[in-house]
Amino acid sequence: MTSASFPATRLRRPRATSWSRALHRETLLTSADLIWPLFVSEGAGVEEPIGSLPGVSRWSVERIADRAKEAVGLGIPCLALFPNTPKDRRSDDGAEALNPDNLMCRAIRAIRDACGDAIGVLTDVALDPYTAHGQDGLLDAGGYVLNDATVEMLVRQSLNQAAAGADIIAPSDMMDGRIGAIRDALESAGHHNVQIMSYAAKYASAFYGPFRDAVGSGGLLKGDKKSYQMDPANGEEALREVALDLAEGADSVMVKPGLPYLDIVRRVKDRFEVPVFAYQVSGEYAMIEAAAAAGAGKREDLVLETLLAFKRAGCSGVLTYHAPLAARLLNG
Ligand code: PBG
Repeated sequence: MTSASFPATRLRRPRATSWSRALHRETLLTSADLIWPLFVSEGAGVEEPIGSLPGVSRWSVERIADRAKEAVGLGIPCLALFPNTPKDRRSDDGAEALNPDNLMCRAIRAIRDACGDAIGVLTDVALDPYTAHGQDGLLDAGGYVLNDATVEMLVRQSLNQAAAGADIIAPSDMMDGRIGAIRDALESAGHHNVQIMSYAAKYASAFYGPFRDAVGSGGLLKGDKKSYQMDPANGEEALREVALDLAEGADSVMVKPGLPYLDIVRRVKDRFEVPVFAYQVSGEYAMIEAAAAAGAGKREDLVLETLLAFKRAGCSGVLTYHAPLAARLLNG
């Protein structure tokens, strides 16, 4: 493509007025692009602010249902749920993940009762909110996270969530082969329309700290998750992860964290032409809040600019703790 040279071409010409900028805008961000992650806590009438995530709280089940109604009102199409499992229900094998009355399942049912099909419920599949050691899977004697034995647990966890009414199963564990195993099990159990959004390219990131506080696994975790989550140095490997998860039956794929990995989003979108989502994770949220608190930028502008960047990079939607604020701003 060639353009005439200056002064016939002046790229500032279409930027001169607000109506013209609106007319030329390539990317649109709306509240329908947002998935709102919520933390569920035991008890009734509970709101527990999370210190490392200023402005984000854990809510008891019936108050989660209120958040769901709020989301419907704001035009947010989907919620993502994470439980803060009580300490005495955490074990080495994370068996609480299979309990049909665990926090996650009760929250799904409460949202369904409150909102029917007006909102989607995405549920995280991984064992870390349920294990006494804070790792996402089962450990061998040396502390290595076992793959195949963990996948068996994840399959049962997925079936438990689907039975409770989950719409999208989102495995965040990074075990090999879990998407195919979960898809088979969902089909066999008649859950043909339960989707799988795979955390396909999930990196071993320093940006997950506040999340681990929120689900109470941070203090329990010894070591790191580098034997299963991806090395931040790798891009080709992300494409292989995505290719495998799609071949195994993922309906959509996720890149996580978000902003530092927009190059991966774009490569995945260009290569596979499938719905791609990104997770603007807890540390990214905290970073924006810290910048705003320090007077380094206006919160509203930082939030909308970063979320727009995900859309421009190729995302169909974004998981973000700023979802209610962003939706309010976008809805005017
Ligand atoms: C756990 C899980 C994590 C997040 C989502 N699911 C943390 C981890 O892998 O340690 C992080 C989300 C965030 O930081 O906001 N499987």
